[in-house]
Amino acid sequence: MTSIVEAKDLRVHFSTSGGAETVKAVDGVSFAMNRGETFGVIGESGSGKSTLGRAVVCLLKPTAGAIRLDDADPYALSGAAFRKNRRDYQIVFQDPNAALNPRMRIRDSVREPLDILGEGTRAERNARAVAVLDRVGLRAEFAERYPHELSGGQKQRVNIARVLTLRPKLVVCDEVVAALDVSIQADMLNLFADLQREFGLTYLFITHDLGVVSHISDRVAVMYLGKFMEMGGADDIAERPLHPYTEALLSAEPVPLPSHLRSGQRIVLQGEIPSPISPPSGCRFRTRCPFAEDICASSEPEWRELEPGRYVACHFAGQVTKGRKS
Ligand SMILES: Nc1ncnc2c1ncn2[C@@H]1O[C@H](COP(=O)(O)OP(=O)(O)OP(=O)(O)O)[C@@H](O)[C@H]1O
Ligand code: SF4
Ligand SMILES: [Mg+2]
Repeated sequence: MTSIVEAKDLRVHFSTSGGAETVKAVDGVSFAMNRGETFGVIGESGSGKSTLGRAVVCLLKPTAGAIRLDDADPYALSGAAFRKNRRDYQIVFQDPNAALNPRMRIRDSVREPLDILGEGTRAERNARAVAVLDRVGLRAEFAERYPHELSGGQKQRVNIARVLTLRPKLVVCDEVVAALDVSIQADMLNLFADLQREFGLTYLFITHDLGVVSHISDRVAVMYLGKFMEMGGADDIAERPLHPYTEALLSAEPVPLPSHLRSGQRIVLQGEIPSPISPPSGCRFRTRCPFAEDICASSEPEWRELEPGRYVACHFAGQVTKGRKS
């Protein structure tokens, strides 16, 4: 079976300072997503997660490399086929207000994507909007309200309803619970899991919170400065990190992790993430890596499959993590 998303050496660069500088937000990422899975992407602020998510739903065109959606190059499709493809790949953002017009009633906001497509009668579109709102836990009375009359969590449910009316195949969830009160985050994650089962959705789940990513994901990719450092099964990554950056993220995790998921020796991330305009030579994590050696500056580690399904980019992958250096 073909993958729902396949990225090969994907790059998304931004030109800044009037073209004088190039921000390499995504700088050579390869992965494939399976239908129905939740693929988590984790990394610090500025690592390129949102840029990657936007590239997957064709809101940003790759600078280089390739992206295939449903085994087709979306940029080789005709206008109508491209729009059909866009409809199948949707995104929900961190800010619950981002996609909601404050002057529109909730029902109208949820119906809007269908209005644009002109599907069915207005009454049918209204009925679908209200049915989807009900499915995400918002009773009919909420349909008549305005965004300011809803809590952050309720608004985020509206945003999910908005994309579900389109019956997408894949939803990029970009920090969808980060702005919400911790007390309702678990409810929201459970809602995402229920909707996935019911609608057969595939998720690209972006977060900087390891607790969230391991709760919901089947597989996880760890991103740093535009590249993946490590990728594998969510439990494997959390229990046995093979890359020093993953281990540092695990030990720096502020949300209490079960003790068996914590590495023996606490390594807290030092310093700031370098600029994606001029990333360090060789391994881009080397300026913060406690295990860096000369080779790390002179040679970029290969992205290799160290164990079946387990990819890592580190010269000393698996040898240095868990505080041991062999
Ligand atoms: N439109 C743009 N123009 C120029 N630079 C950009 C643009 N969008 C993102 N960047 C830069 O690209 C890098 C990656 O940004 P991105 O938003 O993808 O990171 P992120 O991992 O989502 O971070 P966060 O966790 O803070 O959301 C950052 O250095 C950011 O400043
Ligand atoms: S390649 Fe070197 S600098 Fe990079 S993570 Fe591995 S040990 Fe650290
Ligand atoms: Mg982001």
